[in-house]
Amino acid sequence: MEPTFKIPDTGVFVSEYNRKIFSATRMPETVKILDTTLRDGEQTPNVALSSEDKVKIAQALDELGVDIIEAGFPINSEGEADAVKRVAGSGLKSEICALCRASPADIDAALACDVDSVHIFLATSKVHLEKKLKISQEEARDKAVTAVQYGKDHGLTVEFSCEDGTRTELDFLNVVHKAIQEVGVDRIDIPDTVGVMTPTAMTQFVAEIKRNVKVPLAVHCHDDFGMSVANSLAGVLGGAEEVHCTINGLGERAGNAALEEVVMGLQAFYNIKTNINTRKMAFVSRLVSQLTGIAVPPNKAIIGENAFSHESGIHVHGVLSDASTYEPMRPEIVGKERTFVVGKHSGVHAVQNKLKEYGLELNHDQLKEVVARVKKWAESGKKLDDAELLAVAYDVIGQEAAPAIKLEEFTVFTGLNFTPTATVVLNIDGENRRASDTGVGPIDASVNAIKAAVSKNIVLKEYRLEAITGGSNALCEVTVKLGDCEDAQLMSLGKSVGSDIVTTSVDAMVEGLNRLWVRKLGVCNGKEKKRAY
Ligand code: KIV
Ligand code: ZN
Repeated sequence: MEPTFKIPDTGVFVSEYNRKIFSATRMPETVKILDTTLRDGEQTPNVALSSEDKVKIAQALDELGVDIIEAGFPINSEGEADAVKRVAGSGLKSEICALCRASPADIDAALACDVDSVHIFLATSKVHLEKKLKISQEEARDKAVTAVQYGKDHGLTVEFSCEDGTRTELDFLNVVHKAIQEVGVDRIDIPDTVGVMTPTAMTQFVAEIKRNVKVPLAVHCHDDFGMSVANSLAGVLGGAEEVHCTINGLGERAGNAALEEVVMGLQAFYNIKTNINTRKMAFVSRLVSQLTGIAVPPNKAIIGENAFSHESGIHVHGVLSDASTYEPMRPEIVGKERTFVVGKHSGVHAVQNKLKEYGLELNHDQLKEVVARVKKWAESGKKLDDAELLAVAYDVIGQEAAPAIKLEEFTVFTGLNFTPTATVVLNIDGENRRASDTGVGPIDASVNAIKAAVSKNIVLKEYRLEAITGGSNALCEVTVKLGDCEDAQLMSLGKSVGSDIVTTSVDAMVEGLNRLWVRKLGVCNGKEKKRAY
């Protein structure tokens, strides 16, 4: 038996043992995804999205292939209702759903937004009934029935959640589920509201509930113990045909099950399909992170910056000869790229590979010298990025000599109702060149002026600004990645530290340009020197 199994057409490599365990279990062929980024995701502490941003995210979710978009909780506020209405009116393919409590007023608010469906919830656990709602089980059942009936009478698709379902007595859950099915509920969701289930329990719990439910079941799992994705997958094993998720695992407290992980897990472990176009996941993740202001942790599965990043020498060597040695799936299937990071654990292969990206070919001894210096640098506790690596490599091959490009003069004007304008004089290989340009801000104007002075072929591929210290006189670090639109292989990095973000950016640009100049001349390959730009 081959212990690694490649799922056909997916670029996913899983354990054959794992696959065999589940291959005998009856599971649905496809699972629907309800994305609640715009509702539960927006309940992430300190997140509030404007209507415009909600529409942008909804459009991205629609293109991603989400089946149901929970757009918000219209009764919450006028702004929220406006956002839900705009999402519902955006002509998306996905079903647009609004959250409602079990009350006609909430359902009316949803109806006013022209949504396709409502997700009605009512808490059913003892603690919620006694301490929060202060109603009996019978009252709760009747409220649920009235609300579902109201939604159905108004032509809505109705999904119902017994909130805190996993802490509700099973018998009472069955009572509520029976009663709401009698009035035509379309789907029933099982929320693990405070994330207290384990996968084994979740599978059994869902399976038990399913015995008394004829409509499709969903699961909605929170991540309080870091189990939300595992519990969601376990819920599917128990018979759920829909999973509630959020992009990047955003959500109340520790968040909800991350869509990216659920979708890839369903595919990899159970061979279950969803309608999600996995290649768009990284893009949507970045969009949501930008608009919510919640950064994705670098070590987050599937979409984190490190998810397809390799540092250790052994791993890099393995991945370079066959990526499946250390990657259970191809990065491109989730819209990511593989990266090799050079650091304390790197070896010659990683360094060689990284320098090749910048067109630098070093001999073995030079590479060994670079690796030794990199390790020393990293062991001193300092972070090493490509700019430092290139500086080390150039030093080893003896090429960081006199810079060809020197900054002679620089001015920038900016202000209110004034287009930021910058002027530079650069001494380029002995010849002074002056250029001015404008931009959206002083940094943009300065970068444009520098490009105008050197060459319109220069492309600013990346710009990174980090504050090193706090306060208005903080030190900042600027890193720029430059390319040349005539030659995709040409790339360089420049880096500078200073207290003024504009002049520091200009210094980083000049450093990057000098490196690009050297690369363009091909000096490192021993070619004859001529003017690069
Ligand atoms: O976590 C939860 O219980 C919810 C309900 C609204 C279903 O988000
Ligand atoms: Zn929730």
